[in-house]
Amino acid sequence: MEKLKILFAVVFSLGTASAASLGVVQTEGGAVQGRNIPLGLFRSVDVFKGIPFAAQPGTLEKPKAHPGWNGILKATKFAPRCLQMSMLQTSSFGSEDCLYLNIWVPHGRQVSSNLPVMIWLYGGGFMVGGSMGANFLNNYLYSGQEIADKGGVIVVSVGYRVGTLGFLSTGDSGLPGNYGLWDQHAAIAWVHRNIGSFGGDPENITIFGESAGGASVSFQTLSPHNKGLVKRAISQSGVAFCPWAMSRNPRKVAEEVAVNVGCPTDDRMVDCLKSTDAKTLTMAAPRVTQGSPDSPGVTNLLLSPVVDGDFLPDRPENLFHNAADIDYIAGVNDMDGHLFTSQDIPSLGNKNKETPVEDVKRLLAAYSKELGPAAMEIAFAEYSSNWGSTPTQDTIKRSAVDIGTDYIFLVPIQTAIYLHAANARSGRTFSYMLSEPSLMAGPGKPYHDWVGSDHADDLQYVFGKPFTTPKAYGDRHRALSGYMIAYWTNFARTGNPNKGNLQVPAMWPEFTSTEQQFLEINGKMNESSTGHEMRLRFVRLWTSTLPSLASRDVTEAQ
Ligand SMILES: *[C@@H]1O[C@H](CO)[C@@H](O)[C@H](O)[C@H]1NC(C)=O
Ligand SMILES: *[C@@H]1O[C@H](CO)[C@@H](O)[C@H](O)[C@H]1NC(C)=O
Repeated sequence: MEKLKILFAVVFSLGTASAASLGVVQTEGGAVQGRNIPLGLFRSVDVFKGIPFAAQPGTLEKPKAHPGWNGILKATKFAPRCLQMSMLQTSSFGSEDCLYLNIWVPHGRQVSSNLPVMIWLYGGGFMVGGSMGANFLNNYLYSGQEIADKGGVIVVSVGYRVGTLGFLSTGDSGLPGNYGLWDQHAAIAWVHRNIGSFGGDPENITIFGESAGGASVSFQTLSPHNKGLVKRAISQSGVAFCPWAMSRNPRKVAEEVAVNVGCPTDDRMVDCLKSTDAKTLTMAAPRVTQGSPDSPGVTNLLLSPVVDGDFLPDRPENLFHNAADIDYIAGVNDMDGHLFTSQDIPSLGNKNKETPVEDVKRLLAAYSKELGPAAMEIAFAEYSSNWGSTPTQDTIKRSAVDIGTDYIFLVPIQTAIYLHAANARSGRTFSYMLSEPSLMAGPGKPYHDWVGSDHADDLQYVFGKPFTTPKAYGDRHRALSGYMIAYWTNFARTGNPNKGNLQVPAMWPEFTSTEQQFLEINGKMNESSTGHEMRLRFVRLWTSTLPSLASRDVTEAQ
């Protein structure tokens, strides 16, 4: 009888403990109710899906405040993605009514308060993507649940416009562009105003993102409009300096789109574009075509942010004072270029095909074409300096991947890191390289044995997939996922990835202008997994040697 009583008491307290939940939450627009998911003894997470942070935006206009609602909004379903082209670029899906966010709030015995907040900005080349990410069997890639539960932080993921609707611009006040960036900013501002009611600390907001999302994070920190809203930021495999991150000739693209939808290209163009049906506009975007060594795929991404004199008052390199008090992590996957280079040079990814050295030279020539006629040979000499007289196919192919990784990601990311550290006041800087071997590499698998972390490989680890789908991964992947969640959430909590609720396997040294250190992250990392001056020889090649050639050519031509 006594035992039964104790059992009863335990069951009863378990019942109440697992019920720690925010219930109905008041936001500026009205009341919302999510769903509480019990995760174990005294642990649960409240999930809110599809909360509007702005009204449905006008076509090619900045987002506007949401008018609010009566009653309780049931926040239990993801909102549609923003209107975008399908994978095959033959149709569109999604909605113009897409400015919604999702929130994951972890609880222990008691309802949480004052938690650090992490806001996720998805990638997709500014052309595609959604706040929930790809979905396999109701397991959404960008579910914030693992990060929230393990790290004790609130995770928010937000929708923003992409493609023509997000980034079409005439390069002047007619169509200033950057609509997708304004959406992200509106979401950040909403979180700052409202997250307190969800148990979050509005003064401890970290934004993080990957690829175009990483570049978005970079733009958000550089814009004067986020002053005081963002405390920290993490850019994974993308920054403002990436060659695909800014439109070079937005007017030309706008005219091409205008022609595609039957609008005139004179002073009637803007009004005509704005009154064009959103689906038609979406399908009128320049197609992202298969690349070749002479015309690499990334150079086909034409709809992206621009210097608009408002959100971005100047070129990114002149805006780092706005990020001077923001703590910043930026990093790259060691083979981030593999996905792209093996599209541009199809033989590269084929285990049974040889890649001609000529193709490597053509790719380099395409990347360096604005840097003068001598650039390709000088760059090639650097990349082939370890080849010896008879390089193996693996050596040639790996060099091609290095070229893609350096040009598309690594060098621009290093540039951003150096500038952040050089301009910092209170803000700290941390640099990483992810070097976990690809799950697709090895005998009997599609990729060459030597393929490391490809573009987007980091996502599964940051979002804890080795824990949610354990059968698809090994123990080293769960270790790696745990490490990344620890560094990321510690950073969100304290501004220092080494300090917080979770233990880390190695001390991540700060990057400073005098000591350019970085952390190498993988499933077998240990205290020695640090390095310094990441690929400095190649950073110098692209940021100093080759540009100085180009300016010499210009001087000689004058
Ligand atoms: C953020 O959270 C930390 C740890 O809880 C706290 O010390 C700090 O005051 C908070 N605010 C800011 C702006 O860092
Ligand atoms: C750390 O890892 C490296 C690379 O795997 C290895 O060579 C080294 O022996 C390890 N060091 C320690 C102290 O375990």
